[in-house]
Amino acid sequence: MNSKIISIGSYIPSNTVTNKDLEKTVDTTDEWIVSRTGIKQRPIADSSQATSDLAFEAAMTAIERAKIEKNDIDLIIVGTCTPDVATPNVGTLIQKRLGLSNFPAFSIEAACSGFIYALNIADKFIKTGESKCALVVGAETLSRITNWDDRNTCILFADGAGAAILKPTDDKGIIFSELGANGEYADLLHVPYGTSRKPEKSSKDDYFLRMSGNEVFKVAVKTLEEIAIDALKKSNIQSKDVDWFIPHQANVRIIQAVAKRLELPEEKVILSMDIHGNTSAASIPLAFDRAVQDGRIKKGDTILMQSFGAGFTWGSVLLEL
Ligand code: ACO
Repeated sequence: MNSKIISIGSYIPSNTVTNKDLEKTVDTTDEWIVSRTGIKQRPIADSSQATSDLAFEAAMTAIERAKIEKNDIDLIIVGTCTPDVATPNVGTLIQKRLGLSNFPAFSIEAACSGFIYALNIADKFIKTGESKCALVVGAETLSRITNWDDRNTCILFADGAGAAILKPTDDKGIIFSELGANGEYADLLHVPYGTSRKPEKSSKDDYFLRMSGNEVFKVAVKTLEEIAIDALKKSNIQSKDVDWFIPHQANVRIIQAVAKRLELPEEKVILSMDIHGNTSAASIPLAFDRAVQDGRIKKGDTILMQSFGAGFTWGSVLLEL
């Protein structure tokens, strides 16, 4: 028994912050941001919206498009590093909003790899027969842990949510999925102050993401190249047979380097950081949905997704839609 994505949905807040807007608040330029990252604008949630609100909207769209009853869902997994509150988890908050109960609902904390981690776990639930219909979500309000005075990070991060419905299939569906992590790099991308870790003399800045961008960049390119090649090799699929490459939308230069290594032409690479920014766990389903809605991705296509994020965590999923 394999699992298959039968629908995708997404949600982005209506409020948009452009590079020109950021020129007014930090020492940067539209030209620098576009050439170094590929980002032109970023959706930012309004103060009344928490991560579960974004996740719920994306989930509802995915459910409607899947043409299933809400009651069919028997598993909810959410990838997020910006949960509404320490507890209850975002999975149960969505479960409640959907009017559902009495099945597992939980969140996965793997930063930008959250959606891929959640997809990998849902795939295993379906393969073992424990789930017949899973809702998998990647959702973030990164704006809440972004230091808007820090030009190294505030130009990157954004808010949004993407969701997928997975069901068992006799077709290929998810062909290959593998996760990885290396905590050795934890300090290169982290938030110092948290729920239980509260360093003394903490300043306001300790609540926000800190990133050694250049060092993260180097490890990201190396890791993503390795896991992409590995995914193809282990699935016995050649890169020419991949119809679409949907990587985590952190930086266009990282993506171009990996695509070049895989000999994938740029027409096969799905980019959405131009309008979505880096939405961490939401970035892959947001890019996926964009390409489904504009008619590029179609049923039967072979898709390689891969992620890399704080931790460091990483993962890949190869599937036939
Ligand atoms: N505007 C103008 N100049 C800037 C800005 C800015 N917004 N930010 C930094 N600079 C300056 C720096 O101060 C530096 O100046 P200097 O040479 O005088 O010291 C110069 O630009 C170069 O800085 P770098 O950090 O070396 O720039 P780089 O080309 O590496 O780009 C970036 C920075 C975009 C952050 C890049 O390193 C990157 O994308 N890193 C990886 C991000 C990533 O993949 N994160 C993981 C996932 S995110 C998650 O898990 C939540």
